[in-house]
Amino acid sequence: MATLPELARAHSDLDEARIAHLQDLVSVWGLLADLSFADLVLYARDSRRTDGPLVLLGHIRPTTGTTLYRADLVGQIFEPRRRPLIVEAFGAGQAVDGSVEVGSGRTVHLTAVPVRRNGETIAVLARERLRPDDRPGSEQERTYLTVFDRFARMLERGEFPYHDEERLRHRTPRVGDGLLLVDADGRIEFASPNAVSTLHRMGVTRGVTGARFDDTGLGTSMLRSAFARRTAVIDEMERPDEVAVVSHCFPLLDAGTPTGAIVLVRDVTELRRRDRQLVSKDATIREIHHRVKNNLQTISSLLRLQARRLEGEEARAALGESVRRIGAISVVHETLAQSADDEVAFVEIVRPLVRVVEESVSSPLRPVSITVDGDAGVMPGQVTTTMAVVLTELLQNAVDHAFPADGSWVGSGVGSSAGPTDGPSGQVRIELERRADGLVVRVVDDGVGIPEGFDVADASGLGLTIVRTFVEGELGGRIRLVPVERGRGTVAEVWVPTSRLVGPWGDSRDPV
Ligand SMILES: Nc1ncnc2c1ncn2[C@@H]1O[C@H](COP(=O)(O)OP(=O)(O)OP(=O)(O)O)[C@@H](O)[C@H]1O
Ligand SMILES: [Mg+2]
Repeated sequence: MATLPELARAHSDLDEARIAHLQDLVSVWGLLADLSFADLVLYARDSRRTDGPLVLLGHIRPTTGTTLYRADLVGQIFEPRRRPLIVEAFGAGQAVDGSVEVGSGRTVHLTAVPVRRNGETIAVLARERLRPDDRPGSEQERTYLTVFDRFARMLERGEFPYHDEERLRHRTPRVGDGLLLVDADGRIEFASPNAVSTLHRMGVTRGVTGARFDDTGLGTSMLRSAFARRTAVIDEMERPDEVAVVSHCFPLLDAGTPTGAIVLVRDVTELRRRDRQLVSKDATIREIHHRVKNNLQTISSLLRLQARRLEGEEARAALGESVRRIGAISVVHETLAQSADDEVAFVEIVRPLVRVVEESVSSPLRPVSITVDGDAGVMPGQVTTTMAVVLTELLQNAVDHAFPADGSWVGSGVGSSAGPTDGPSGQVRIELERRADGLVVRVVDDGVGIPEGFDVADASGLGLTIVRTFVEGELGGRIRLVPVERGRGTVAEVWVPTSRLVGPWGDSRDPV
């Protein structure tokens, strides 16, 4: 669907400044639709041809009444003879009232208001409804309709939409949120039931009508500032008891003189409470990650201390392994603590993990280079932690077993020789692949290969036991260790089903 500027450029001679004026109008006209209990439509035309077609630039339905149009009207083009009142309003420069037979016995009542800017009519705003206004309504209906008329006069004089109006992070409240009509002296003439309720919550319990606006506590300078600047002013107040209200003050102007204002009030207490909760939850989660990471570091240091006091080489090695495993988990926590949400891109974890493993192979006899291919996308923090441990084990196995420290694999055709002076080096490749059915992580080495008759299911080492427990038990996935198809070496492949890779909202994201 075309936007307002696109339609205006295509079907009218409006320049950018005039289009911007209409965009300003459309950004606040929900207020006008609500006040008029009617659909509002905006027409433009090519001003160089008075008999030219009319283009419908925008349409808004009232939240205070029923709409006339179920279909989307925006972008439709009309012959001028089908919209005579609109054409009349373009020419007259002031509002035109009338009714049109639209077939099947239906009559549409229409008020066509010229939208003027610097004395020139640039568009016509039409208020369209089935019911004529002469039926006596409630006080609220009558009040809203007179306020709409005041805005209509402002449109004709080019005093609405306002110039340099503040539009902050707030959505413009609708009339149903609560409306106060204030007179030129700052007294409340009328308050809608929702506005009265909001004021009650703020402690204004008696006689809202007739009270001074400044006494409501809704921002004392707001009205003065709106009158002085002749533009909308937004204010948010929060009481010590946490009642929070956003007010939008729209001055009503008559040829530059403020004659009153409407203030839309919206109780945002609940909204702000939830904001605060979210912020504090977020901070708590970060704090927890941080503490977990610190605790893991403490545990690592304790184990290292203990290892130093041990005599047995095997016992020392075992503690060293544990330190490495804990290191893998703390890498994930480091990343989680830094990211704003619980989901992490797995590649971000892979690189630091590679470093953890590389540090464990300090022997110059076994130069091993580890590379990363592909992307695994984003997944929940818990899965990331588990997969980090799994990947570390597989990497560790590759550097531990594929290229034995005695160098026996050198010269056996295993590994690739980078040159006589550099010596041979083992290659380990991590392959990450996000498929429709899940995540695949492969650790491929070009080493000596797995022992004859080896079966993962029977492997009794701690490393593969951890991998099996995590992959099959916790993640519902599969693990296999097979020889490289062509050439030498081993492929360790882990598959995790898609169902485990999505957060609680099911919004799995593909790698970017
Ligand atoms: N990439 C590989 N190349 C050759 N053999 C491997 C490879 N990965 C695993 N293996 C074989 O599988 C066995 C079991 O591995 P596992 O990780 O369970 O135990 P480990 O590495 O011996 O001890 P731990 O991991 O507990 O320190 C290894 O001893 C090794 O024989
Ligand atoms: Mg191992």
